[in-house]
Amino acid sequence: MSSTGFLTNLCLFFTCCFCCSKAMPTELRQEAMNDRPVIGVLTQIVTDEVLKPFGNTFIPASYVKYVESGGSRVMPIRLTLTTAEYENIFKKINGLLLIGGAADLETSDFARVAKIFYRLALAANDAGDYFPIWGTCMGMQLLTVLVAGKNLLSNTTAENIALPLNLTTEAHSSRMFKDFPDELMKALTQEPLTGNFHHYGVTVKNFHENEKLHSFFSLLSTNTAENGAHFVSTIEGKRYPFYGVQWHPEVNRFQWNTELNFPHSPHAVHISSLLSEFFINEGRRSLHQFEDPEEEASSLIYNCTPVYAGNFTGYEQLYFF
Ligand SMILES: *[C@@H]1O[C@H](CO)[C@@H](O)[C@H](O)[C@H]1NC(C)=O
Ligand SMILES: *[C@@H]1O[C@H](CO)[C@@H](O)[C@H](O)[C@H]1NC(C)=O
Ligand SMILES: *[C@@H]1O[C@H](CO)[C@@H](O)[C@H](O)[C@H]1NC(C)=O
Repeated sequence: MSSTGFLTNLCLFFTCCFCCSKAMPTELRQEAMNDRPVIGVLTQIVTDEVLKPFGNTFIPASYVKYVESGGSRVMPIRLTLTTAEYENIFKKINGLLLIGGAADLETSDFARVAKIFYRLALAANDAGDYFPIWGTCMGMQLLTVLVAGKNLLSNTTAENIALPLNLTTEAHSSRMFKDFPDELMKALTQEPLTGNFHHYGVTVKNFHENEKLHSFFSLLSTNTAENGAHFVSTIEGKRYPFYGVQWHPEVNRFQWNTELNFPHSPHAVHISSLLSEFFINEGRRSLHQFEDPEEEASSLIYNCTPVYAGNFTGYEQLYFF
């Protein structure tokens, strides 16, 4: 990938979140607290020629820092394991982050592995075993495919542009934004604080017309694409702790390429901080754990060293696996 690699690498078509009812496990398990959470992050398959010398799969360090800055550790999850191995990992991690990138949302290994964790998370939450999932950009798109059971994406290009969010009334009673100060909520609707790097997304029309999608997720914000389409930009599950953003909260603090419109204002940084802390606090409600400290230590991303990539990609650092 060239210096614009960040763009091409995000959210292409094949490439490419919950406050609620008293019934949900959130309330039931409020007392459970795990102050040593581990969030699983699925790796992405390397398709870009310039990255191939480094490894077969990768995770941009910005997502790792985003999770770590919220007070969690990261376990990278490879895409080549068996279902039984993912079931085993699920019992140890406290949440899952589906990152942006480029993968087919139905046929790729990324989609296959995400579906396994999605199904495990549905069943766990139903049983009172709290397990949050966060999808960013392609990760959010993938969540909509998993929930709807089909791909509802269409051209909603918003490429390399920072936008304010068009918040819905539901945003103000949402879990995601509940700790946002009033002043920041206002700034979110007026200042370009959310970085967009995508070609496809779910239009507001498709969202409302798909029964599965709108009964599963609350729509918290929308935005307008280059072609005029209104697209879904923030969602949270009504009954499940699943969250999705079409935009990139991690870039506000952890990506700096000057050709890319990454918001770095104090408000932009604050939003990124609050959302990472929000998601990790969701992970603290999960009591999954590793069997022993050695197994935990060997599973964490601390065993890997990121590669400096700021001179040949839109990212600063990448982890390769
Ligand atoms: C914000 O959302 C409302 C309701 O969907 C819509 O009518 C309006 O055009 C949107 N504004 C922008 C700037 O997208
Ligand atoms: C999506 O729409 C934009 C704006 O209308 C257009 O420039 C672009 O070529 C379209 N992209 C695809 C992949 O169809
Ligand atoms: C990027 O910088 C590193 C050293 O910081 C250097 O080894 C590498 O060759 C550079 N890559 C390119 C493509 O310029």
